[in-house]
Amino acid sequence: MTADLTFGPDFRWGVSTSAYQIEGAVAEDGRGPSTWDTFCAGPGRILGGDTGEVACDHYHRYAEDVALMRDLGVGTYRFSFSWPRIQPSGGGPANAAGLDFYDRLIDTLLGAGIQPAPTLYHWDTPQPLEDAGGWLERSITDRFADYAEILAARFGDRVPMWITVNEPMVLTLMGYSLGAHAPGRELMFDALPVAHHQLLAHGRAVQALRAAGATNVGIAGNHAPTWPASDSEEDKEAAALYDNLINWLFADPVLLGAYPPGYEAAMPGPVSDDLKVISEPLDFFGINHYAPVSVGAATGRADTAATDGILLPPGVPFEPRSLEGYPRTDFGWPVVPSAFGEILRIFKDRYGDRLPPVYITENGCAYGDTVDDQRRIDYLDGYLRSLRQAMDDGVDVRGYFQWSLLDNFEWAAGYSQRFGLVHVDFATQVRTPKASYHWFRDVIAQSRG
Ligand code: NOJ
Repeated sequence: MTADLTFGPDFRWGVSTSAYQIEGAVAEDGRGPSTWDTFCAGPGRILGGDTGEVACDHYHRYAEDVALMRDLGVGTYRFSFSWPRIQPSGGGPANAAGLDFYDRLIDTLLGAGIQPAPTLYHWDTPQPLEDAGGWLERSITDRFADYAEILAARFGDRVPMWITVNEPMVLTLMGYSLGAHAPGRELMFDALPVAHHQLLAHGRAVQALRAAGATNVGIAGNHAPTWPASDSEEDKEAAALYDNLINWLFADPVLLGAYPPGYEAAMPGPVSDDLKVISEPLDFFGINHYAPVSVGAATGRADTAATDGILLPPGVPFEPRSLEGYPRTDFGWPVVPSAFGEILRIFKDRYGDRLPPVYITENGCAYGDTVDDQRRIDYLDGYLRSLRQAMDDGVDVRGYFQWSLLDNFEWAAGYSQRFGLVHVDFATQVRTPKASYHWFRDVIAQSRG
C-alpha cells in the first residue's frame, strides 16, 4: 500500500510536539507561570475547563515517549523548550532544574538515535514578561535573545537543528487580535506590533544562536493557500488581503526583507534596520500546513464555522467561509491533500532562490477517541502523496515532521481534539499506538527505497 511512497534515504522523518501541550508539571522544579497557565485559569476560556497542568505528563514520562519514537523509526523529534521553565521570571539567570530536564530529554533522544530539533518559543510566554507588555513591547526581543543564548550555550554541542519561533501568525491573531488564545487580548489590527516583535525576536535569536556556535537554524510558520470564495472581483480582492495578512506578512520579511505593501508603516520601528535582522539568511524554512482557507468579501453574515467560532467585528473587509465539498476532520478542518503541494509550489514561485531548503515542521489531523484511525491514515497518505508531487515539481523539501506523536492539549479546544499517532488516556496516562502509528512506521521504513 505504501511501497510507492518513497522519499529517499536522506529524507528526515520526524514527529512534533510542544512544551505546554504535553509536559504538565507546571509548578515543578522552579518553573514559573506562563501566559497559558493564566489563560486556562480564566473562566470559559478553554473547552471543558481543561488546562495544561498535567497534559501528557511528559515531564515525567519522557523516556517512555522517546521509546515510542524510537520504535516508530523517526530520525528527528521536534519539541519546544518551555521558556518559563528556563527563565521563570522571563529574564536573568537560568533555572538549573529546567535546563536539567532538557539535558535528560536530549541525551535520551541521542541515545535512541533521534536528532533533537527544538523550538525556542511555542506560545508559552513567562507571565512576568506578559505583565510588562508581552509581545507588544520591543524589549521582549532583548529578553528573547538572552534566552536563545542560554539555550545555545547549554545545548549547542548536541542539538543539530534549531527552530526559533512557532507560527507567529497564530500568536498575533489568536492571542492578541481576537483573544481566543493566551494572553486573550482583543486588539484587532492594533496587534500588528506583536507580529513585528516576534519576527525581530526570531532574527535576534538567529544571531544569538549562531554567535554561540549553533548551526542549522530556521523558523516554523503556518501556511496555507487562500482560495477566493468565488470568481467575483470582490471575493478575489478580499482573499488577496487575507493572504497577505496570514501568509506573506510573516514570510516576506524573513525571506525577502520586506513587508507586503501597506504594512511597514503600521510597524514599530526602526523598521528598515529591523528588517535586516529579520531577514538574516536561514538554513531552512519550516512550514506547518493543515488546510486551505476560503475567503470572501465581508457580507456581515458571519460564518463562524469557518473561523472556529470567532466572530469578526464589523469593518474587517474579508471573511473566511466554509469550504464545501471536502471531507472534514473531527475538528471541522477540510481535508484537501492537493493544497499541501499547492502551498509548497506557491513558496517556490514566490521566493525562488531566496527560499532555503524546506522542512514540513507540522502536518496532521484530529480524529476521535479511538485507536482505529483509518481516517488519519487516509489523510496522511493523501498529504504525503501531495508532498511527494511538490518535490517532484522541484520544491526542495528535506523532511516531514508529523503533528503529533501524542494526543495532547489542543489549546482552546482542550483535550477534545486528538492529533496523536499515539492515543493517550488522560485519566491513566496509558499510551496506546494507533493504527496510524503502525502505518507511519511502515511508510518510514519503506520510503527510503
Ligand atoms: C499548530 C500549532 O503549532 C500546534 O501547537 C497545534 O496543536 C497544531 N497546529 C494543531 O492545531
